[in-house]
Amino acid sequence: MVRKQAIDMDMHGQVFACTTKTKSECFKRLLFSTNRTYAPAAMRVKRNDFLFLLDLDNDLLYGIFKACSDARMNIQPEAWNGKYPYQVEVRAIGEILPIENAKKLLEKMGISRSSPINRTSLIKLLELYRSDRFSFENWFEYLTKVEGLRKVQISDEPKSWELFSDLQKFKIKPEDELPLLESTTLWDFPRQSYGKTPKGNNKYPGVTPALLIWNLVWRYTDPGDLVVDPMCGSGTTIDVCKEEGRRVIGYDIHPVREDIIENDARSIPLSDNSVDLVFIDSPYGDNIRYNENPASIGKISSEKELFYDELEKVIKESYRILKPGKTLGWLIGDQWVKKRFTPVGFNLYERLTKYFETRDIVCITRRGQSSNTGLWHNRARRFNFFLRGFKYLFIMKKPLDTKQKTEKARKIKWNHYER
Ligand SMILES: C[S@@+](CC[C@H](N)C(=O)[O-])C[C@H]1O[C@@H](n2cnc3c(N)ncnc32)[C@H](O)[C@@H]1O
Repeated sequence: MVRKQAIDMDMHGQVFACTTKTKSECFKRLLFSTNRTYAPAAMRVKRNDFLFLLDLDNDLLYGIFKACSDARMNIQPEAWNGKYPYQVEVRAIGEILPIENAKKLLEKMGISRSSPINRTSLIKLLELYRSDRFSFENWFEYLTKVEGLRKVQISDEPKSWELFSDLQKFKIKPEDELPLLESTTLWDFPRQSYGKTPKGNNKYPGVTPALLIWNLVWRYTDPGDLVVDPMCGSGTTIDVCKEEGRRVIGYDIHPVREDIIENDARSIPLSDNSVDLVFIDSPYGDNIRYNENPASIGKISSEKELFYDELEKVIKESYRILKPGKTLGWLIGDQWVKKRFTPVGFNLYERLTKYFETRDIVCITRRGQSSNTGLWHNRARRFNFFLRGFKYLFIMKKPLDTKQKTEKARKIKWNHYER
């Protein structure tokens, strides 16, 4: 039984991993590191957090370590030949103890490498490493105060965790979990936000799922990079980027928060080649009333060519401000109104390809729409039409050789396509 009340301090922890091949470098350099897959959790590590090293090949969990720096990129760029750039410097707390059967132990405790360890599991885990010299209370007091050693001395005998305590299976709270990056081109986010703080406002019309932006941010930028959302609505992009350590600028024609700058996306007040990621969740036509501003592109029907002409001005601006090789993510959905289908996504994509190369196209499940009611589902069946089930996320890249792409791409005419 964990005596939670005995521990008042704010504690954070994280598991890093190594293999037989990479382990000695971890101990020699006193550096833990990872690649993009586990970077979102790793980069949350702050000085004095408790760290553990999972030896994947031998199924051992080494502990306890303490972070002696905040996580940063390339603290030692030459380590592991640059394969693991998300890094943190560590110190050893006393003699390092390897615990056997580590994967099962972590699973039982609800600990994964993709999320920071939640508080209760961390207390339990630290307790497993307690030596007989300390009482429970003294152990935690010692752990918070101790600086850690610059040299690693490992106990010869791996310990079995069954010896220490009888562990009941542990459930993690959803807000303590960070997901892994999406790995397919079909993304479905049941909730608009994630984590302990709201991202954007889930009551805002057409609000973007925060994890969609989170995925783009972690795939295409690094901490410290600049992200811009020229149509940022309730500010979801701003909230995600701030939590993930990116610089961010959010504009909107009708700002609803103080940290959103009033600006028309057709002219963005930033210099050429200065931005690392642009994300846009634009109006899909005039189906939603965002505000009364006459300059809102959401006042133009997507059945009109003018709608795409105006969005093309936003595309051009996004292209101009992005650094070569960097990414534009654009979310948009098709329209079916009054028995008429408009392929808004395809029409916009045609405009995008005049300037950008395609990295990929992702389908986003549409949820939380006003038409997601029994009545509308019945109408769709009875009157033989479909409710919109997905949106497109176009992931575009500003070509590295911008001159070449600009001239070549502008020749593409889809209705007269030639090989
Ligand atoms: C789908 S919403 C964006 C939602 C946002 N990503 C969020 O999570 O809250 C589209 C936004 O585009 C804005 N907008 C429309 N025309 C604009 C323009 N010309 N310049 C800048 N913003 C514009 C609207 O005010 C609206 O907030």
